[in-house]
Amino acid sequence: MSKVNTELLKVAMPKGRIYKQASRLFREAGIPIQDDLDDSRKLIIELPEAGMEFIMAKPVDVPTYVEYGVADIGIVGKDVLMEENRDVYELLDLKIAACRMSVIGLPDWEPTFYPKVATKYPNVASAYFREQGQQVEVIKLNGSIELAPLIGLADRIVDMVETGRTLQENGLVEHETIFGITSRLIANRVSYQMKNERIQQICDQLQATIIAKG
Ligand code: PRP
Repeated sequence: MSKVNTELLKVAMPKGRIYKQASRLFREAGIPIQDDLDDSRKLIIELPEAGMEFIMAKPVDVPTYVEYGVADIGIVGKDVLMEENRDVYELLDLKIAACRMSVIGLPDWEPTFYPKVATKYPNVASAYFREQGQQVEVIKLNGSIELAPLIGLADRIVDMVETGRTLQENGLVEHETIFGITSRLIANRVSYQMKNERIQQICDQLQATIIAKG
């Protein structure tokens, strides 16, 4: 076996909704990952057959681990990538966990002067409204963002929409879509040079699988 194939690769994997789809894609690409890991609570998972070690991270922290080089590569949603703006290479659109970033509010929302916008994504929201030439006050929340317009904390929210069920069940509507979201493969800049063949090989395997799936 060549040196390239035995080199341990540290992979920052997002716990939660992306993980199942990401691990399935890895398996489809021929990377041997057991499916019983999906419900594991282990934070560091050794995968000797794959020559990998998974670091099970909170999704928002994946770009941080990769930027600092404690993970060579990582999988992260485009939403987090845009918000965190970390110094990493974005290698591949994995075309999984598709959703969108939207401006959301009550159906009868009317423009107001200096509206309040609640969001988990303050950088994304600020940049969007700045580009639109609209002055807004951005309020950072950490979850259940849909509460904000319902209880009068904010006029609108910027949040991700996947199935639309949360909006529907809370009587909210999308006013504008800001951008589409899918998960991306990212790499540490130094790892990408030092472990280039290994990372490129995985990238090629994943890309071929994505293309084959159409
Ligand atoms: C996300 C997002 C929306 C919801 C959208 O929240 O912030 O609330 O999912 O999904 P849907 O369109 O399929 O309903 P998440 O589940 O991550 O929890 P959070 O509210 O704690 O952020």
